Amino acid sequence: MESNSDKLVIFDTTLRDGEQSPGASMNVSEKLRIAKILEKLNVDVIEAGFPIASKGDFEAVFNISSNIKNSTICALARAMDKDIDAAGEAIKPAESSRIHTFIATSEIHMQKKLNMSKDEVVSQAIKSIKRIKKYTNDIEFSPEDAGRSEFDFLSRIIEKAIDAGANTINIPDTVGYNIPEQFGDLVKRLIHNVPNSDKAIFSVHCHNDLGLAVANSLSAVMNGARQVECTINGLGERAGNASLEEVVMTVKTRQDIFPCDTRINTKHIVPASKLVSSITGFPVQPNKAIVGANAFAHESGIHQDGVLKHRETYEIMKAQDVGWLENKLVLGKHSGRNALKTRLSEIGHEIKDSNELNILFKKFKDLADIKHEIYDDDLHSLISNSSSEESSLAYNLVNIRSISDSKSEPYSEIMLEKNNKSFESKSNGGGPVDAAFKAIEKIVGSNSKLQLYSVNNITDGTDSLGEVTVRIEKKGIIVNGIGSDTDIVIASAKAYLDAINKLNMKEKIVHPQLDHV
Ligand code: KIV
Ligand code: ZN
Repeated sequence: MESNSDKLVIFDTTLRDGEQSPGASMNVSEKLRIAKILEKLNVDVIEAGFPIASKGDFEAVFNISSNIKNSTICALARAMDKDIDAAGEAIKPAESSRIHTFIATSEIHMQKKLNMSKDEVVSQAIKSIKRIKKYTNDIEFSPEDAGRSEFDFLSRIIEKAIDAGANTINIPDTVGYNIPEQFGDLVKRLIHNVPNSDKAIFSVHCHNDLGLAVANSLSAVMNGARQVECTINGLGERAGNASLEEVVMTVKTRQDIFPCDTRINTKHIVPASKLVSSITGFPVQPNKAIVGANAFAHESGIHQDGVLKHRETYEIMKAQDVGWLENKLVLGKHSGRNALKTRLSEIGHEIKDSNELNILFKKFKDLADIKHEIYDDDLHSLISNSSSEESSLAYNLVNIRSISDSKSEPYSEIMLEKNNKSFESKSNGGGPVDAAFKAIEKIVGSNSKLQLYSVNNITDGTDSLGEVTVRIEKKGIIVNGIGSDTDIVIASAKAYLDAINKLNMKEKIVHPQLDHV
């Protein structure tokens, strides 16, 4: 179908709001890898982070600004001088840059969180927008909690923000409270009511607390919004944000209804989803639209017969259009470095650094020794291994021996290494994984609480790689660890160590919306 001429700007906030999901924090090199795949997707704007939050966040935004050329790099800033200055410095190297500033406008947020009057909120917003001009003319303003703000006040602050120089006005449904008809109507009335609304692009940022983030965003698009803020896999604070893949594919599939289209290269959607899932340790549910393992699987005989006769009987999109490749058996024990590099690039992972390729090649050979047949999904899993193991402060797993039979208590012996020192311990446990975790804990002494443990198989068959996700918490800091191996006890030990290493490296991060001083 012909696409429509009006442009819908895709603003991806996986690296900022997505990172606010519990445990989804990423290090600088992981963020850069995600930014690169977002650039391949042709995302218009990448919200790369909140630079005042921590040194790591600043560095990530700076790094992404230095390396990404085809997307605008945006940094978030509360309406405060120090936030704006940090954002401005972090985006300096970018070819195209934006600063996104926000302040809450709902009665409950202004009274209980900010302790500010309406007039104070308006003047703070204006002052901040003017300050941003020192750094960039691409200025986005969000009245936080717009979905619960009083309409006349919202109109007033938006008019003033545009007058002060904001050229994108983002309407956040911060707590995911709105429903599609109401939210679409809000956007329509704002565009109609604000006298200078033609000087800005209206954007929406919807949270998924009631499962309506995508529906609300699309309703806003039908009513005049021309930017949608979204994340890969719908990652984000609490129940998440609108999912990029669902927004983009709905608009593309229903060009008979939507008066606009995106410039997203949809073939990179599935690789992007897999990368984000494996880096953050948030698995994708099998029945998730577009990127879930079952999204294009036809279980029932009737459907299979129909699809074989004529694909459109039961399919409204082509799996290949969103980047589902046949999970090809591509490599084996005898494949060389070049074959690995080529296939990795075909499935969306460009490896330019020869050291990185050597490390991956070694992991690939080790896996091929055990598994013989290596599929694309095995490669996705290999590549996702956390980079925490590269630090000298990190524990590495040297060996694990676990014994479990039906007559005795499971038992585990562990050998770890950190900064050229080795550590050994042993423990019994309620199961082999429990025994391994207890043995590790004796060495690392993290005193953390296990919040989540899950195992997924990467490919079919009993020799498949098992991918384990572990989430641990200590003093309010939450991290996810991931590990994969054909032996799930080893995968579990790797995931636990990955989480421990992340916990040890994690610095206190300022939360943009909760720490408002
Ligand atoms: O949900 C929200 O309101 C936000 C703002 C910072 C835009 O994330
Ligand atoms: Zn948000």
